[in-house]
Amino acid sequence: MGELRGVAATALGVARIRAAESTRRDRLFDDPYAAAFVAAAPPPPAAATRADDTEVPATHREAFYRGLFRHIVLRTRFFDDYLTAAAGEHALRQVVVLAAGLDSRAYRLPWPDGVRLYEVDLPEVLAFKERVLAERGARPRCACTAVVADLRTDWTAPLRAAGFAPDEPTAWLVEGLLVYLSAAEAARLLTTLGEQSAPGSRLAFPGSGDFRNSPMMDGGRALPSMREVSALWKGGLDEPADDWLGRHGWRPRTYARETVAASYGRALGGRAGKAGGGADGRGAFVVAVRGDRETPAS
Ligand SMILES: C[S@@+](CC[C@H](N)C(=O)[O-])C[C@H]1O[C@@H](n2cnc3c(N)ncnc32)[C@H](O)[C@@H]1O
Repeated sequence: MGELRGVAATALGVARIRAAESTRRDRLFDDPYAAAFVAAAPPPPAAATRADDTEVPATHREAFYRGLFRHIVLRTRFFDDYLTAAAGEHALRQVVVLAAGLDSRAYRLPWPDGVRLYEVDLPEVLAFKERVLAERGARPRCACTAVVADLRTDWTAPLRAAGFAPDEPTAWLVEGLLVYLSAAEAARLLTTLGEQSAPGSRLAFPGSGDFRNSPMMDGGRALPSMREVSALWKGGLDEPADDWLGRHGWRPRTYARETVAASYGRALGGRAGKAGGGADGRGAFVVAVRGDRETPAS
């Protein structure tokens, strides 16, 4: 089993945070597989660690890591609820998770009968995930299909070959990917996704503002321990996502981080509360509905 390197390794970073959150008594979700992924991953190659961050003021580095933790925890729970509602009250039976990484929602959410979920990611990530889940005897709670594709190229052909039906409404999740794409790559991906979305499809992703100037990006770039990851950041869409989505056949709604956190009983404070948000404060999460038959709701 090869190591996860480059952008593939970022999936492990998310799993580390989900594993830590899952041990809290007041956890917002329980991901029993996250710790298994972390335990199974080979030790990372020599790289800067948090011990190398001492040149950065302690308040800044603590604010960054606290903000990153909160961002990933909040978005995990928010998108858990988004997918649960998409398959529940909105009755969608086709779910596509682009850049699924080590997301274990197929194995831990209470899916209704008939849900078909497709997980798209790079081959090494999906192979690692499959091996670890198989070793644990994990069973998906819906029909789950892994689809190997590079999302900067034609990913719809392998998705359709796996059984995806573009004429059926889809619940799409694009969590933690766009920042690793250039503005042109992100717009192309979302345009293609829109072309595959029947009316009534739903789409969710984090960040409705421009990632380039967000406090989280700035904080991460300043830290030696984040150098390998921040070097991968290309910024994603170069305009607020709700503006882009509104012009491309979607009815978007954004959700402010503070409101989402408060609804889960996790108050945010100071700089950490802003980390991960858009530069213009337009919200941390976006949910959109294809066509105008219904209004967005989480
Ligand atoms: C930060 S992780 C997020 C994973 C998952 N969505 C989650 O939140 O747990 C980013 C993921 O994007 C995937 N990814 C990045 N660029 C990709 C590309 N061009 N094609 C397919 N997957 C890609 C990585 O392999 C990784 O699994």
